Amino acid sequence: MKIAIMGAGSTYTPELFEGLVKRGRELGVTDVVFEDIDQQRLDSVFGFCRRMASRMGAGFEIRKTLDQDAAVRGADFVVLQIRVGGQEGRHEDIMLGLRHGLVGQETTGVGGFAKAVRTIPQVLSIAHSIEQLAPDAWVINFTNPSAIITEALQRHSRVKAIGLCNIPIDTQIEVAKALDCAMEDVELDYVGLNHLSWVRGIRVRGQDRTAEVIEALSKGFGPANVPEADYGADFWQALHMIPSPYLRYFYLTDDMVRTLQQKTLTRAQEVMAIEAQLFEYYNDESTWEKPELLNQRGGAWYSKIAVEVIAALLGEQPRPLIVNTAQAGAVDQMPDDAVMELTCDVSRHGVVPRPVGEIQEEIFGLIRQVKAYERLTIEAAVMHSRDKALMALMANPLVRTLPLARAVLDKLIRQGRFLAK
Ligand code: G6P
Repeated sequence: MKIAIMGAGSTYTPELFEGLVKRGRELGVTDVVFEDIDQQRLDSVFGFCRRMASRMGAGFEIRKTLDQDAAVRGADFVVLQIRVGGQEGRHEDIMLGLRHGLVGQETTGVGGFAKAVRTIPQVLSIAHSIEQLAPDAWVINFTNPSAIITEALQRHSRVKAIGLCNIPIDTQIEVAKALDCAMEDVELDYVGLNHLSWVRGIRVRGQDRTAEVIEALSKGFGPANVPEADYGADFWQALHMIPSPYLRYFYLTDDMVRTLQQKTLTRAQEVMAIEAQLFEYYNDESTWEKPELLNQRGGAWYSKIAVEVIAALLGEQPRPLIVNTAQAGAVDQMPDDAVMELTCDVSRHGVVPRPVGEIQEEIFGLIRQVKAYERLTIEAAVMHSRDKALMALMANPLVRTLPLARAVLDKLIRQGRFLAK
């Protein structure tokens, strides 16, 4: 079984690779191909992973290539984790937002928009290679903004794509910690979009533990890259759900923008500093263990969900996992082909979202609004349309008004970062 990792020069790759090494035999992995367009990054990460593979006794071959087609040819799984524009592009996106008093984070707000429109064409080019050279492969997408990229793949290519994020599994880990129970016993009533989700209820072996978990997590939780923010007890009581840490950008927009404006470094610059240390570590011929430093990254533990999903997609028995896919009737109030982050039964027979019932008024409006933004963004990128792009930005609740949408869009067009016909 062949796995191709596109964007394997990411400093995150050893996290994913360790998971593959640990469970490779059980999954039947025979080949792992590392692909990147940046030779230096690829060499460094590959060299490190080769040492890891030999010290840990991986039972499969590993190879590296700069050639997209060679990487995907005959693959059974293609893990997509590219970052178009690198951390420099991420920094520009964040600053584009902050200079206009807006959120420029890489998945929400104008940052997510700028990243999406430059990434969609590249991802669709990889998808077209997969259609030709590995038509049966599953594409496991981590490329951000994950929901938009996954929906673009599902609607504009013929590949089988599933979108993943570490947030659902991280939440499950946090909940298990708070309740001092096994992660496998935690059942989340989870609904929403990627980075726009809510846990509406928590059950452990049939028992409702929602109130206790809200009490514990309201004191703070979330990945390293999202600043903490205080909602206040009245909000937790009124909402009575656990919002994704990314909802701080929506519920406390002004506070979050202020916090980000006051920081001396953007998250992209912080990550560049961490990456410099990571590359130093990877280039040291004596190292082979996954570095502790990776835990300072927002996507820590993403291999857990990647490997779980690969195992489930190979298995006969459906396993419930929280992933991004077309909701296909699970939510009455949304278009069938809208990609949502939901609990799905995952097996070799496919990915089937479980029905979620009626979504509460207090969260449904935001979900629908952001989904409209996401779908318009995909159209803007595919059609290179300024009209769709303007409508997308105005549908984004973190931009919303015409003067801001126009200013941001014209800047992106002037800088050649959005190619409008
Ligand atoms: C989170 C998100 C990922 C994102 C990551 C960024 O965990 O769920 O989608 O890629 O953080 O982390 P970084 O360390 O690059 O800021």
